[in-house]
Amino acid sequence: MIVTDLRLRQYRSYEACALAPCEGVNVLLGDNGQGKTNVLEALYLCCTGRSHRTRQDRELIRWGADFASVKVEAQRRDGSHQVEIVLPQAGRRKLKIAGQEVSKSGELMGHVTGVLFSPEDLRTVKDGPAERRRFVDMALSQIKPSYYYALQRYARALKQRNEVLKLASVQPGLLPTLDSWDEQLAQAGAELMAQRRGYVARLSAEAGETHREISDGRERLEIRYAPSVTLGDDRQAILDGLFAARENDLRRMTTSVGPHRDDVLLMIGGRDVRAYGSQGQQRTAALAMRLSELNVMREVMGEWPMLMLDDVMSELDPSRRRQLVNRLDGIQTFITCTDVDDLAGARIGKAWRVSGGTLAEA
Ligand SMILES: Nc1ncnc2c1ncn2[C@@H]1O[C@H](COP(=O)(O)OP(=O)(O)OP(=O)(O)O)[C@@H](O)[C@H]1O
Ligand SMILES: [Mg+2]
Repeated sequence: MIVTDLRLRQYRSYEACALAPCEGVNVLLGDNGQGKTNVLEALYLCCTGRSHRTRQDRELIRWGADFASVKVEAQRRDGSHQVEIVLPQAGRRKLKIAGQEVSKSGELMGHVTGVLFSPEDLRTVKDGPAERRRFVDMALSQIKPSYYYALQRYARALKQRNEVLKLASVQPGLLPTLDSWDEQLAQAGAELMAQRRGYVARLSAEAGETHREISDGRERLEIRYAPSVTLGDDRQAILDGLFAARENDLRRMTTSVGPHRDDVLLMIGGRDVRAYGSQGQQRTAALAMRLSELNVMREVMGEWPMLMLDDVMSELDPSRRRQLVNRLDGIQTFITCTDVDDLAGARIGKAWRVSGGTLAEA
């Protein structure tokens, strides 16, 4: 998949900007705070519906403006795709696919696809399970829009169940409604678990290989799905898990089991990288995870997603930098950097100088 056109209006530091990227390596070069990441963030927003930096749409709107918009055109094997997102200061987002307004946020998924690697990725390795669930959820949503809908159904049912758990002590009449929320959680949850298990298995197979290459064959990385419900992945197992936890959940007024508590474990030599890995091992694991995500997405979709590298070159040692650059063949890539020397000899297709919220082709 190739992004052929990107247009921003009132997005972060940009009043208006347009760029026509090339199929190969696109470089955004500029000093700190000039607006390089803003461009990648806008692209990522069109892939996943989310910024990788904030959940607040408001922050994406240029200060003083009443809306922001991002429009991306992409060329895929099956033809051209166009996605436009308008974020108003007040009210709901507007989403247009191929120029037509659509009402469901899930309709965004699968048109523009990409993998973003940024310094914050280290959090996927170091932070709690929520970051790793997000890692899996964002990839699966792009690969399979039905997964995104299951996530939405699950989140809605979870919110309702938690609401009932909170109110039940003062409104015992609500208790019987728990059965139906459990049922909805179990249905959506079984879909999430099955997809996650399959995806993590593929990811692990890829990551073992990729990690061996970038760590010069010294270590083996394994990625393991660690579901919260351990009785099984099917609807009945989740229902049983929820039922067993109900009394406890009522006391704690929150749902303690289910895919919203899943984790994904990263192991090197059988040990958890999060707890025992050195800084360097964690960095390498983060890179291996992203590269594996890229490979799995290609396998499943039959074409490369675009790759966005935000400031990562300067963080890698020369050998890993070369490893990364060697993998860019045939992949549309967007790289931000402050210094061209960081590009480790990557074949640059197009470059822009970014300064004070403007882009100039260099
Ligand atoms: N909503 C907004 N409206 C206007 N400007 C904004 C908004 N949000 C962020 N900015 C500006 O955008 C700039 C940050 O842009 P960005 O994060 O893309 O920088 P960068 O070039 O990636 O920098 P670095 O090299 O430090 O990562 C800051 O100068 C900030 O003031
Ligand atoms: Mg940046």
